[in-house]
Amino acid sequence: MNIDTLKQQVGVCAAELVQDGMVVGLGSGSTARFATLHLGERLRRHELHDILGVPTSIETATLAKALGIPLTDLDAQPRVDLTIDGADEVDPQMNVIKGLGGFLLREKIVAYSTIRQIIVVDDRKLSPRLGIVSPVPVEAVRFGWQRTRDAVARTGGEPTLRLRDGQPYVTDEGNYILDCRYAEPFEPQALAAALHAIPGVVEHGLFLGMVSEVIVATSRGIGRLDAATGQLCLTS
Ligand code: A5P
Repeated sequence: MNIDTLKQQVGVCAAELVQDGMVVGLGSGSTARFATLHLGERLRRHELHDILGVPTSIETATLAKALGIPLTDLDAQPRVDLTIDGADEVDPQMNVIKGLGGFLLREKIVAYSTIRQIIVVDDRKLSPRLGIVSPVPVEAVRFGWQRTRDAVARTGGEPTLRLRDGQPYVTDEGNYILDCRYAEPFEPQALAAALHAIPGVVEHGLFLGMVSEVIVATSRGIGRLDAATGQLCLTS
């Protein structure tokens, strides 16, 4: 099955969980985009009322505005009922890596304020342990970034400055991203603490213990990750 079809199916499935009156975190990336599109469609059809969206990137804010989704921010609405976001890798404990799209900082701030964090992925992103499928994106301030890169390397990985069109990629918050590959298995909590201890690191893409549900699109149908067993259970 076409990968975009899978992304659309899982995005639509998650967007159906949104109810009238909710404050909704609007994720970033190609899978979350389908959820935002479906929310716009539900509003347009008057199936859904009085929602407020909290976008996790400038890109998502632009899309949501075009779709007529009323927007707010965390200063006005510090509690987000439900957020739908994508991920780059998901382990059986529902820890995830995010940030290949470049929006991990705002995504994590919104996730931290969210009661029900729903991750939407296709089954290529499922992994027995983090770091196999995806590098760990690390957002670093530009000042002294090479020193920060060297410090990140001392956590055991190989950080590479993310480029776009031959130039350093700059995030919505004006920072660089170091994509860090780990050849050896790492303990996620220990790595997260080590990365946070580096002064030039603003945030990293390890979202640990922040996810409520993982909805997975497969060519055999939609499933959910069972938090107790780590198994994927097909539901439709
Ligand atoms: C954006 O920074 C990311 O966290 C995305 O949510 C993640 O990269 C998944 O994106 P796709 O749905 O495009 O694979």
